[in-house]
Amino acid sequence: MNVVILAAGQGKRMHSDLPKVLHPLAGKALLGHVIDTARELGAGKICVVYGHGGERVRAALDAPDLDWARQEPQLGTGHAVLQAMPAIAASAPTESSTVSSTVSSTLVLYGDVPLTRVDTLKRLIAAAGGDKLALLTAHVDNPRGYGRIVRSEGLVTRIVEEKDADDAEKSIREINTGILVAPTAALARWLPSLGNRNAQGEYYLTDIVALAVAEGMPVVTAHPAAAWETEGVNSKLQLAALERVHQRNVADALMEAGVTLADPARIDVRGELVCGRDVSIDVNCVFEGRVVLGDGVRIKANCVLEDAVVGAGSIVGPFARLRPGTALGCDVHIGNFVEVKNSSIADHSKANHLAYLGDATIGSRVNVGAGTITCNYDGANKFRTVIEDDVFIGSDTQLVAPVTVGRGATLGAGTTLTRDAPPEQLTVSRAKQVAVPGWKRPVKLPKPQKED
Ligand code: UD1
Ligand code: MG
Repeated sequence: MNVVILAAGQGKRMHSDLPKVLHPLAGKALLGHVIDTARELGAGKICVVYGHGGERVRAALDAPDLDWARQEPQLGTGHAVLQAMPAIAASAPTESSTVSSTVSSTLVLYGDVPLTRVDTLKRLIAAAGGDKLALLTAHVDNPRGYGRIVRSEGLVTRIVEEKDADDAEKSIREINTGILVAPTAALARWLPSLGNRNAQGEYYLTDIVALAVAEGMPVVTAHPAAAWETEGVNSKLQLAALERVHQRNVADALMEAGVTLADPARIDVRGELVCGRDVSIDVNCVFEGRVVLGDGVRIKANCVLEDAVVGAGSIVGPFARLRPGTALGCDVHIGNFVEVKNSSIADHSKANHLAYLGDATIGSRVNVGAGTITCNYDGANKFRTVIEDDVFIGSDTQLVAPVTVGRGATLGAGTTLTRDAPPEQLTVSRAKQVAVPGWKRPVKLPKPQKED
C-alpha cells in the first residue's frame, strides 16, 4: 500500500502567509494529521505532492519515511498524482515478494482533509482488494461543487465535475470525496494518458474512472461513517468547525475511558492526554504536548498543562499552569496562579497560591507559601533551586538560584535567599521592624478659596 497525499493547492481563502496545509488543527499541521493517518495504515511509501508554500511545507514536516514530489505549476489532481509516480513506482515489489504483496495499490489522500478515520480507509482498501478501483463516495443533501458519481444500472461509469455537468448530472446526490484506491500499475498506465479538455482546462484525476470502466476493471465504492471525515479546510471557518469536531471526538474518547469532564465542549487537547482511573477535569483546560494524569487526579477550571506528568491523587488549579518538564508526585497540590516549569515536586507537597517554580527540585511534604518565586534566570543563564523534604517556605520568598534549602528548614516570610539555608533551622532575611512613636499620617491641605 502506497499513499499519495495531494498538498500543492494554494488555499487563497485562508488569507494567510502560512501555506494552507501547515495551519494547525489541535496543535498539529493539517498535513501532519494526514501523514499520521497514512502511517497508521502502515503505508509502504508515502509521497507528498507539494507546490504552494514549497520548501516551507517540506521543511516543516520532513521525515525519513516520506517522499516529496514537487508539482509546479498545478495543472489538476491527475497531474498532481502523476508527479508522485516516480517515487511510488520505485516501490514496485521485487521478485522475492510473496504473491499477495506483488499487487501494489495506491491510496490518494488530501493534505487539507485532516480527519478521515483509519477504519474508513481500511474499508475502502478492502473494497479495492488490490485489483479494483475503489472510490470513497457520499450521499449528501447539497452536492454543489463536488464531482458527481454517474452510475448506469447501479455500476459506476464515470465522475463528472460540477463545472462540466449537465442539469441531470447536477441533480445526482452521490458525490466524489476525492479519496480513492487504485492498483499502482493501472495508475501508472492511466495518468499519462489523461487530457485536459474540460471546463477547467485541468488534468482530472477523476477521469481515471472512465478509463477503468473502458478496460473492464470493476469500480467499487465505500462510504465514510460521518460527513466530517471527508470535509476539507478552505477557510478559517472550516478550520474552526473541524477543530470543534476533533475536540469533541477526543472528549468522547476520554469519557468512554472513564474520565469525568465537567463539559466535553470546554476542553482542548492539542497532543496526547493519558489519564488513569477516576480523573476529573473541570471546564476550560488546555492540554498540549504529552500530558499524563495519574489515578484520581483533579484538574480544576482554567488550567494549561504542557508536557507534564501529574502523580496520583494530585490537585491542579483552578488557574494553574504546568509548563514542559513538570513532574508532580502523588498528592501534590498546585493552586491558583501557580506556574511550574522544568521542575519536579515530590509527594504531598503543596504550592497553593501565586508562585513561580522554575528549574526546581522540590522534595516531599514541602509547603511553598503564597508569592514564592524561584529566581532561576540572571538574564543569561538558568540555575536550579533545590528544596529538600519537609521544608516550609514562608510567603513572599525569593529563592535566588543556584541555592539549596536543607531538609526540614523554615524560611521566614519575605526572605530573599541568596545563600543555602541550613537544614532544620529558621532562616530569615528581612529588614528589622520598627515603630515610630509620635508619627502622624499626612493630612490633605485645604484647597485655596476662589477669589471673585
Ligand atoms: C476534487 C475532485 C472532485 C471532488 C472534490 C472533493 C477532481 C478533478 N475533482 O475537486 O470530484 O468532488 O475534489 O473535494 O479531482 N491539488 C493539487 N494539485 C493540483 C490541483 C489540486 O495538489 O494541481 C490538491 C489541492 O491542494 C486539494 C486537492 O488536490 O487539496 C483537491 O483540489 P481541488 O482543486 O480543490 O479539487 P476540486 O476542484 O474541489
Ligand atoms: Mg479545482
